Amino acid sequence: MATEHSSGAMWRDRFGPWALVTGASDGIGQEMARELARRGLNLVLVARREDRLTSLAVELEGKHKIDCRVIATDLGERAAVEALLVETEPFDIGLLVACAGFGTAGLFVDLPLASEIDMLEVNCSAVLSMTHTMARRFVRRGQGGIILMSSIVAFQGVPYAATYAATKAFVQTLAESIRPELALAGVDVIASAPAPVATGFAARSGLAMGRAEEPGVVARQTIAALGRKTTVRRGFLAKFLIGSLATLPRSARTRIMSGIMHGMVRKHAALQK
Ligand SMILES: NC(=O)c1ccc[n+]([C@@H]2O[C@H](COP(=O)([O-])OP(=O)(O)OC[C@H]3O[C@@H](n4cnc5c(N)ncnc54)[C@H](OP(=O)(O)O)[C@@H]3O)[C@@H](O)[C@H]2O)c1
Repeated sequence: MATEHSSGAMWRDRFGPWALVTGASDGIGQEMARELARRGLNLVLVARREDRLTSLAVELEGKHKIDCRVIATDLGERAAVEALLVETEPFDIGLLVACAGFGTAGLFVDLPLASEIDMLEVNCSAVLSMTHTMARRFVRRGQGGIILMSSIVAFQGVPYAATYAATKAFVQTLAESIRPELALAGVDVIASAPAPVATGFAARSGLAMGRAEEPGVVARQTIAALGRKTTVRRGFLAKFLIGSLATLPRSARTRIMSGIMHGMVRKHAALQK
């Protein structure tokens, strides 16, 4: 059964000695890697930008007594995901942190289908493959942990971010569904569902965010909640939308999200002029 976990050696024994962190070249994934290094875990760092992964590895190996391996790969390609899973097999990985992901924003019919499908590959297919393979390995080991990145958009329809919201609904439901199954085998699962976070994500998605949470705070709170919660929400908007508005029908929440998202798309467009 999933148990309480304190920091330090106990935490490392439970989720180490190695962790696989995707999306480690930037944003939340990079901060997850920093927090795990602080807790003494060795890290396999994954993303496409090798230079950024390598400098993070140098930083973390210098600051902490840990080892890092860099695997630069495109998780939008199924063969690359399979190769990554083969390459990581020799490592004694006890924790998967799946942060790689991206979003798009705008009217559904205006967004190119190719990038929507690519998003499905990165945000869903790759997450599913990695979660399935790592979960089997963790069940065999009798312990482990899985951290999946959901979002506040996961809990209702979201006009102007339709496909992105659908990918996060997939991740959220997957995490909630496998958590009780895997708890029986000693494996903890958590979904992290933050409100806007101050990373490069928004600009890459075509959004301008107002109030945004710091990625380090999201990373620390998510890691601390592993084994304790099903979903961790960080940020005022996350608590408001998932908490206070939880009693509203989905249609009402969708209208509220539509207003928020449309505002962020318009603000981003205005800033580009
Ligand atoms: N920022 C927010 O407001 C927010 C809110 C809720 C949830 N989230 C979720 O949190 C996760 C991390 O987002 P973030 O804010 O940290 O975004 P970010 O700063 O843009 O970082 C995204 C990471 O994903 C990697 N990545 C993207 N596409 C990839 C691909 N095809 N193959 C391999 N790696 C890829 C990027 O690395 P490379 O470019 O080097 O490949 C980067 O390391 C995402 O799943 C996002 O949906 C973000």
